[in-house]
Amino acid sequence: MPQDIVYLNGNFLPVHEANVSVMDRGFLFGDGVYDVIPVYGGRAFRLEHHLQRLDLSLQGIRIANPLGHDQWADIFAALIQHNGGGDQSIYLQVTRGVAPTRDHSFPSAVQPTVFAMSTPLHESATAMQHGVAAVTVDDIRWKHCNIKAITLLPNVLMRQQALDAGAAEAILLRDGYATEGAASNLFIVRQGIVSTPPKSNLLLPGITRDLVVELCHANNIPCRETDIGEAELRSADELWVSSSTREVVPVIELDGKAVGDGRPGPLWQHVSALYIAYKQDFRAGKVH
Ligand code: PDD
Repeated sequence: MPQDIVYLNGNFLPVHEANVSVMDRGFLFGDGVYDVIPVYGGRAFRLEHHLQRLDLSLQGIRIANPLGHDQWADIFAALIQHNGGGDQSIYLQVTRGVAPTRDHSFPSAVQPTVFAMSTPLHESATAMQHGVAAVTVDDIRWKHCNIKAITLLPNVLMRQQALDAGAAEAILLRDGYATEGAASNLFIVRQGIVSTPPKSNLLLPGITRDLVVELCHANNIPCRETDIGEAELRSADELWVSSSTREVVPVIELDGKAVGDGRPGPLWQHVSALYIAYKQDFRAGKVH
């Protein structure tokens, strides 16, 4: 459930009073982008990284950012406060706006619709630290997966396919290579080396992914950004998926087969501890 107060087009108001026109391009065409930002101890985590990614997503669909980074930061700070501080997850969405008619072509002179809400960060991420199952599925998405588009139907279907198979995440395969998860990035470990696919139009440049790569480099853990073939995926010693809401989650079973010895691996333990320490430093104001 979103917490009570949300932001819509310049106003903070109770969620049940926040309404958007049925002529909104987001509703009719899925014509918009979004982002999800974790909040720890009342402060947005890696905010500048998320806002830079938002800029790229907006550029990718040719919408000018209706707000400056400072304005976004002020909105988030107010939302966080309205909703009681602590640990939350902010969802923001920008659509092309409300057009007079349903027409594929861009409408002229419309204001983008700007929406943001916050939900409590719950404990499900913690439960996942014991390890989850995943299944491989065909990556049925378009070729602009680097844009965080609200058009998530393929991701919804692929994630549901995983849930229906009793797994927590779908690992996506395109042309023989693993790209990412339905709502997460992918890491594998083989012979002590961490690998994650390089950034491209085939995957979302995850903020958590970047932090994991950064933490590996800073702590002399061998880490490569390189393509991951299906055979490498299937014979990995460790498999992890990462996202802002779930953090770094060990995958201990893939398509019904144990990954490694079927338990979270030693490199995951190491990187997860580094991630937790980084978050603690953030809460203590030592990193931004
Ligand atoms: N999704 N890849 C996809 C397809 C995603 O949807 C996400 C996150 C990620 C991880 O990105 P980040 O580390 O920046 O959260 C990778 C969010 C959490 C969502 O859709 O709810």
